[in-house]
Amino acid sequence: MAGLGNWSLTRAALIILLLPRSLEGCGHISLSAPTVRLGDAITASCIIKQNCSYVGPESQILWKLGTELQPGGRQQRLPDGTQESIITLPHLNDPWALLSCYLRWGNSLQMVDQAELQAGYPPFTPHNLSCFMNLTANCLTCQWEPGPDTHLSTNFTLKSFKSRGNCQTQEETIPDCVSEDGQSHCSIPRKYLQLYQTMGIWVQAENVLGTSVSPQLCLDPMDVVKLEPPTLWALDPSSEVAPPQPGCLQLHWELWKPGLYMEQNCELRHKPQLGEASWALVGPLPCKTLHYKLCGLLPSTTYTLQIRCIRQLLPGDWSNWSPSLELTTPQRAPIVRLDTWWRQRQLDPRTVDVQLFWKPMPLEEDRGQIQGYLVSWRPSGQLGAVSPLCNTTELNCTFHLPSEAREVILVAYNTGGTSRPTPVVFLECRGPPLGRLYTMAPDPHSLWVGWKPSKPQPRGYVIEWGLHTPSPNGSHKTWKMEHNGSIAGTLLQENIWPFQLYEITVTPLYQDTIGPSQHIYAYSQEMAPSHAPEPHLKHIGKTWAKLEWVPQAPELGKSPLTHYTIFWTKAQGQSFSTVLNASSHDYVLHGLEPASLYHVHLMVTSRAGATNSTSLILVTKALEESELHIILGLFGLLLLLTCLCGAAWLCCRPSRKNHLWPSVPDPAHSSLSSWVPTIMAEEIFQLPSLWDPSVLPITKITVLEEEEKKSGPWESNDSSGTCGLPTLVQAYVLQGDPRAPSMQPQSQSGTSDQHPSPTFPIPLGWASHFEDHRMLPPTFPTSVLCLFPVISVT
Ligand SMILES: *[C@@H]1O[C@H](CO)[C@@H](O)[C@H](O)[C@H]1NC(C)=O
Ligand SMILES: *[C@@H]1O[C@H](CO)[C@@H](O)[C@H](O)[C@H]1NC(C)=O
Ligand SMILES: *[C@@H]1O[C@H](CO)[C@@H](O)[C@H](O)[C@H]1NC(C)=O
Ligand SMILES: *[C@@H]1O[C@H](CO)[C@@H](O)[C@H](O)[C@H]1NC(C)=O
Ligand SMILES: *[C@@H]1O[C@H](CO)[C@@H](O)[C@H](O)[C@H]1NC(C)=O
Ligand SMILES: *[C@@H]1O[C@H](CO)[C@@H](O)[C@H](O)[C@H]1NC(C)=O
Ligand SMILES: *[C@@H]1O[C@H](CO)[C@@H](O)[C@H](O)[C@H]1NC(C)=O
Ligand SMILES: *[C@@H]1O[C@H](CO)[C@@H](O)[C@H](O)[C@H]1NC(C)=O
Ligand SMILES: *[C@@H]1O[C@H](CO)[C@@H](O)[C@H](O)[C@H]1NC(C)=O
Ligand SMILES: *[C@@H]1O[C@H](CO)[C@@H](O)[C@H](O)[C@H]1NC(C)=O
Repeated sequence: MAGLGNWSLTRAALIILLLPRSLEGCGHISLSAPTVRLGDAITASCIIKQNCSYVGPESQILWKLGTELQPGGRQQRLPDGTQESIITLPHLNDPWALLSCYLRWGNSLQMVDQAELQAGYPPFTPHNLSCFMNLTANCLTCQWEPGPDTHLSTNFTLKSFKSRGNCQTQEETIPDCVSEDGQSHCSIPRKYLQLYQTMGIWVQAENVLGTSVSPQLCLDPMDVVKLEPPTLWALDPSSEVAPPQPGCLQLHWELWKPGLYMEQNCELRHKPQLGEASWALVGPLPCKTLHYKLCGLLPSTTYTLQIRCIRQLLPGDWSNWSPSLELTTPQRAPIVRLDTWWRQRQLDPRTVDVQLFWKPMPLEEDRGQIQGYLVSWRPSGQLGAVSPLCNTTELNCTFHLPSEAREVILVAYNTGGTSRPTPVVFLECRGPPLGRLYTMAPDPHSLWVGWKPSKPQPRGYVIEWGLHTPSPNGSHKTWKMEHNGSIAGTLLQENIWPFQLYEITVTPLYQDTIGPSQHIYAYSQEMAPSHAPEPHLKHIGKTWAKLEWVPQAPELGKSPLTHYTIFWTKAQGQSFSTVLNASSHDYVLHGLEPASLYHVHLMVTSRAGATNSTSLILVTKALEESELHIILGLFGLLLLLTCLCGAAWLCCRPSRKNHLWPSVPDPAHSSLSSWVPTIMAEEIFQLPSLWDPSVLPITKITVLEEEEKKSGPWESNDSSGTCGLPTLVQAYVLQGDPRAPSMQPQSQSGTSDQHPSPTFPIPLGWASHFEDHRMLPPTFPTSVLCLFPVISVT
């Protein structure tokens, strides 16, 4: 099967390969013209010979231009039995295309013949014909512009003849100069030229569609001599007498050797290497000395320079520009004013550590590059001798100030020299202070600091600012100097970010002293108060509760508090709030329901926002104290009676002892949750809102008054009498996070040897303050609600 399949495939391939060949010579295409103007029509005919075995009476002849079928072929049978199809392509828009003639053979098309179509334009008139005499090659070189592409191969021929005067008469033709393929210049050798005599020259362009000629030129080859450019270089600096001048370059050039006998005029052009500047022309250059000092350039800038020459007094052409020379002008000493500022630190009585800062302020648009700064001082009595303290590229330096030095000298330098020296005098602080500082923040990235100018008016100010950090030298400060003593404030824009506390220092500068520095703290954009005071329960009644809080110290740089808001929410979700002014520190909640649980929190508000405190939970009293005492008494009696009865019964029936206490685990061999009667929270005391996820986390345990009988952690659990008295509860405080997942399993069979965590039971009736629930003992079973009575003893 496979072999048979292979065989048929091979046969099919053979047929396909052979068929087109068998159609060769079956017919051919003839064109109305092999080349037409672009856009013109072309007509083609395809004739299929009679003896072509593939052509039947109904055979259809089809046309394709490139790969696209062309409709519109008119097919006819000629008397001699041949078939002919004629097609006219109205617009030939491609310079080159293949036209094919096909026969439909079964379902496929078989190509009979193909013809190349070409289209283009007749040559355009060559223009800008110009000629020059090349003395090196000893020939007359002419060049021209051929004009737009014709899409056809076009020949250019330089035609010329010898003449006299204005070329009206033709004396002797000169052999044509045929330019090499595609080139638009041609050179007539010296042997055909007659120097000092005119000649007529023109270019003729020719292609299959036509011929065109340029206007005629009439010239004497010796009038168009073009020299070769000279060679330009920098004068060796060692040969210079004077030191290099900033903004000047020393140039030297050498003329083209064969042209040395000719007098030449030269000119120079230059432009900065970088940037968009155009060429600047300098000339004529002195023709005798061959060197030149070019000045008026920018210092420390790289220039591109070129030179060209022309024959002096005689007609001719400028040489080409010489190859570019690139030179950098020397530097100029920096022209800057140095603003300085310092901080001093007394290390010991004899040594002062000085941190000197400076800023170069350009005095001219071009201030000169700065390569470094030098701080030095001149010991008195040693004229001329200077001791360097710092040589740095940074804008600051720290040094030990020699005890006898009162001032140091700062200069900026580069290879061109040093700037004017700036004396830095370490002034003592004897001036008057400034008036009150204040700040404003126009936007989160700038700060305005203002002040009341002092009397006498300072000559300037130094403003330092930086992030406020606890360590004095850990902060990196930004500084600036204001030289206008009459200003009353300045805008700081460097290194200012929102939500950061800035320390801003302003120091007034007087003629020969400085004033004390003043500080202010500010935010360009501040946040809400960082925390709110915790409300504390002071007293509680059946329908009221008195809360107190300790107002917090104002935060550095922040705007003052505007008001407090107290929120109290009843367990079932009714919430209330009241707004208090910023000087309040206590409040009495009225209209509370007896025996109800409330969440209370405090919100502090400043211009920048509000912050909530954590939540306090309180429960109002339910019963009068006298009632409580009676019930307690009755209950005590009942308990005593029960115990007595039980004891008597136990004594009488010792065999049943084990059945009486079956569920009391051994405190040493039990986990705590099994100790606590966990049904309490759910059954005895319904507190649905405790599980409300919207409730703030409780992070504080407040117990109003100590329980009378202080019970140890373990004791509190084996006395069932302290629990299970919900109706007697007067006020209690919850501990733990009520949102924590449900209770621990009631019995843990596999953990019987697990000791109760000794940290678990916070001693009941004992006031504990955990500022944050992360500080709760980690093993504290937070889901266990332990209710305990607080017996108020009045
Ligand atoms: C058809 O006849 C012409 C001469 O009339 C001959 O040149 C040509 O080869 C023949 N073509 C075929 C396919 O037989
Ligand atoms: C050619 O000649 C025209 C007219 O004289 C002139 O505007 C043009 O700049 C020249 N083109 C070149 C490349 O020299
Ligand atoms: C003159 O001819 C020489 C040699 O062919 C060539 O190197 C030089 O560039 C020509 N000069 C000009 C100005 O074209
Ligand atoms: C161009 O010149 C070549 C060589 O001289 C010649 O063979 C060719 O026919 C010319 N073509 C045209 C279009 O004149
Ligand atoms: C400063 O340092 C630079 C570079 O390190 C050096 O060239 C220059 O001589 C130094 N100047 C002085 C005065 O030490
Ligand atoms: C000194 O200047 C450098 C760079 O200019 C900076 O990194 C450094 O923090 C500055 N030192 C002080 C103390 O400002
Ligand atoms: C302050 O800087 C000094 C010297 O640079 C250093 O000894 C000291 O530890 C720094 N103090 C702090 C708080 O960073
Ligand atoms: C100094 O500041 C005052 C007030 O802003 C202004 O009127 C005055 O023109 C300033 N002087 C200079 C020299 O800038
Ligand atoms: C703030 O409120 C308290 C009590 O309501 C009142 O005594 C005090 O005058 C108020 N202070 C201001 C500034 O209104
Ligand atoms: C403070 O709590 C109240 C009531 O729960 C709430 O409306 C307010 O948005 C809270 N404020 C902030 C700043 O969280």
